[in-house]
Amino acid sequence: MFDPIQLSQKLARADRTFYTQEVCAEMVLKLERILQLKRERSAVILAHNYQRPEIFEVADYTGDSLGLSLNAAEVEDAEVIVFCGVHFMAETAKVVNPSKTVLLPNLQAGCSLADTADADDLAKRIVALRLVHDDLGVVCYVNTTAAVKALCDAVCTSANAVEIVAAMPNKSILFLPDRNLAAYVAKQVPEKEVIPWDGYCYVHQEIAAESVITVRDHHPGIKILVHPECRDDVLRLADAALSTSGMVKYAQKSDAMEFLAVTECGLSDLLAIEVPNKRFYRACKICRFMKMITLDDIIASLENLQPEITLPDSVRAGAEASIHRMFELTRTVRSPIGGAAFCQ
Ligand code: 13P
Ligand code: SF4
Repeated sequence: MFDPIQLSQKLARADRTFYTQEVCAEMVLKLERILQLKRERSAVILAHNYQRPEIFEVADYTGDSLGLSLNAAEVEDAEVIVFCGVHFMAETAKVVNPSKTVLLPNLQAGCSLADTADADDLAKRIVALRLVHDDLGVVCYVNTTAAVKALCDAVCTSANAVEIVAAMPNKSILFLPDRNLAAYVAKQVPEKEVIPWDGYCYVHQEIAAESVITVRDHHPGIKILVHPECRDDVLRLADAALSTSGMVKYAQKSDAMEFLAVTECGLSDLLAIEVPNKRFYRACKICRFMKMITLDDIIASLENLQPEITLPDSVRAGAEASIHRMFELTRTVRSPIGGAAFCQ
C-alpha cells in the first residue's frame, strides 16, 4: 500500500534531508505493520498537528485539540483509540469516551504548560479568589490535567477561548494555565475581568518578535499566522491569531501564496505537506514532548495495548462536565472521523 519513493517525495516537502528513500523504505514496513495491528485490535489513531509527519500516514484523524476531542467523543466502531499527541490530550479522549481503551504510545509525552497548574494549588486559589470575587467563573485551557479540568466551570481550546470566555455568565474569570492566551482573550473580551494563571508554554514563549520581523521584512505580502500561546509582542505582528487547524484552513483558503506559521515547527511541516502549492517560511521552535512518539512506539503500544490511560471515576466525571460545558457554550457541531481531515 505504501510506496517508499512516493512517501519520500511527499514527506521531503517537510524535510528533504531526513525523509530519504532509504529512511522511507524502513518506514513503509512499520506503517504497514501499524495498519495490520489497527485491523487486528480494532483501533483508530488520532494525531495532533505537531506530530512527526510519518504518523499522519496512519492517522484516521489529524487536527488541533478541539477537533481531536470532538473526534475522540465520536469514536464508536473501534475498541481502541491510539492517541498520538501529549498526555492531557489522551486523557481528554478517555474523559469523553470512557468505554474505549485509550493508549498513549509514549508516557513521557507530557506538556510543560499543563504541568504549571496543579489541582491542589488551583483549589486553594479558587477559594482565595472567591473571597473577593463572589461572581468568579473558572475557565481552563484544554492543556491541563483531568484533575484540574474537574475543578473548572468550562474548558476551552485555542480555537474557542475567546468565544467561551465571552459566553460565560460570570464577570470575573480565572483563566488557566497560559498567561499569554489569557492576555489575548482579555483583549478580545474587554467586558470581562480575566485573572491569569502564571503559566506559559516554553515553546511559544521562546519565539521572538525579531525573528518574525526578519521574515516579514524579506517577504512583503506574507501572511503571518500566530498561535495565541505566543507572547503579546509576537501576537501584535499577526495577520490572524489561530489554532493550529485554523492555520491550515487559513492557508488553504487564502489567496496569498506565502505564509509564516508562528508556532511549533510541526505545523510548518504539515503545511508544507498538505498545501504543496504555497510557500511556508519558518520562525518556529520544536516541542520535545510532541516529537516523542515514534512509529516503533505505536507498534509496541498496539501489540501490548499499553500504556493505557485510566482515570478515577470522580475525576473523569468532573472533567467531562467542564468539557461538555465547552461544547454547550459553543454549540459545537461534532465532525466524526472520516469528515474533514483538518477540523478547527
Ligand atoms: P492547538 O489546539 O491549537 O492545536 O494547540 C495545542 C497546543 O498544544 C499548542 O501548543
Ligand atoms: Fe505543551 Fe507547548 Fe508542547 Fe503544546 S507546544 S504540548 S503547550 S509544551
